[in-house]
Amino acid sequence: MKYISFDTIPSTNLYLKENYKTLDSFTVCHANHQTSGRGRLGRTWIDNDDLLFSILIKEELENVQKLSLLVGYSIMRTLKHYEIDSLIKWPNDIMINDKKICGILLESVYTDKLECLIIGVGLNLETTIFNGELIDKASSIRLETNKEINKEELLINITNNIIEDYNIYKNESCFFLDYISNHSFLTNKCVLFNYNEKDYEGKVIGIDKEGNIMIECDGDLLVISSGEVSLTNNYKS
Ligand code: BTN
Repeated sequence: MKYISFDTIPSTNLYLKENYKTLDSFTVCHANHQTSGRGRLGRTWIDNDDLLFSILIKEELENVQKLSLLVGYSIMRTLKHYEIDSLIKWPNDIMINDKKICGILLESVYTDKLECLIIGVGLNLETTIFNGELIDKASSIRLETNKEINKEELLINITNNIIEDYNIYKNESCFFLDYISNHSFLTNKCVLFNYNEKDYEGKVIGIDKEGNIMIECDGDLLVISSGEVSLTNNYKS
């Protein structure tokens, strides 16, 4: 694995998108700060003193759908080494004490075929002040656990685990899904979600053996794969 580090760049995802042709698969781009950090759904990702990196994957892959769950698994099991318990909020967020501490952004580059995948991870390590709508929703490892974690060491540990898990995943694409199911933040919570461009409210029953979310809605059980549903930010127990 090759690491490219910057103090400040616009976005580690963008860097890999713009340079994928000349870089090897599994190159990791890391930055201390981003000036145009990208979040999901076109949002911006604001950082303070956090862990920001992206991994380039230039390989054909059959099960792209579950990749963000896999990366979530790798991050959760790495945090467990530091005695930090976390949950995954399907499909992309890592939560501690009901607050989001980490987001995962999967992007791809297509020409006439899939050229590469880029896995971007923003993990709040040391941020202690969140503004606006983030106040109640986001937090950091420091705020939630009071642990001081070495950023470089965490980067190496998480990226090694992601690559290790990815190599297992290529042959055994469901090996981690029991863990995901047992560490699902949304299970038994009521969620608002958008499916086929309509808004619904339902109760999450769990994550199935394929990584789909199961939602009970008006007496029906909807089994939805990532990409088909967007959960609004609202949920209640
Ligand atoms: C989310 O919206 O939850 C996903 C956030 C992903 C942020 C990371 S930070 C490193 C990488 N570079 C970016 O521009 N975004 C991702």
